[in-house]
Amino acid sequence: MNRLVAYYSLSGNTEDAAKQLAGKLGADLLKLETEKPMPKRFAAQILVGGGQVMMHHIPKLKPLGKDLSGYDEIILGSPIWNSKGVPAINAFLQDEAAAAKVTSLFFLSGGGETKKGLAAITKLLPNLKHTVSLLDRKHKNSRENAAKLEQFAAEIDKP
Ligand SMILES: Cc1cc2nc3c(=O)[nH]c(=O)nc-3n(C[C@H](O)[C@H](O)[C@H](O)COP(=O)(O)O)c2cc1C
Repeated sequence: MNRLVAYYSLSGNTEDAAKQLAGKLGADLLKLETEKPMPKRFAAQILVGGGQVMMHHIPKLKPLGKDLSGYDEIILGSPIWNSKGVPAINAFLQDEAAAAKVTSLFFLSGGGETKKGLAAITKLLPNLKHTVSLLDRKHKNSRENAAKLEQFAAEIDKP
């Protein structure tokens, strides 16, 4: 089974989880990046990122540098922005062949509420089987992420 962990991460939380998962599953890693960078300051990120989510903006991604046809399964990681997944992930999922390979999804958020994000993204993922909600490292319960990730990886790995 050739697996890919594809993710977007602005401040490193989703990236940490993606790296841990890729290690547990023996998967390759793909960091999704937009051509236009996000602002550096958090307040500006909230304005720009929040605005993009509201406008259903689909940004242009930097070249992926990987041939997705070589993978059997994609595990996708996204932060929650304005209760939804991020625009870069929606851009990645414009490729329907790639979207069909996504079996598993992990969200990172400041508060843990992912219902709206899950509802929006589920429509784009016909073969989604496993999901997990992880907490930003600043949240007091973020130490629960390790056990959740372990269980998520075990579910994905089940024959
Ligand atoms: C533009 C923006 C909007 C956000 N909106 C939410 C939100 O609606 N709910 C939430 O729980 N966290 C929200 N957050 C917090 C992020 O989901 C959280 O910090 C996450 O861990 C970031 O992942 P990253 O470090 O991989 O970028 C938002 C962050 C940004 C930058």
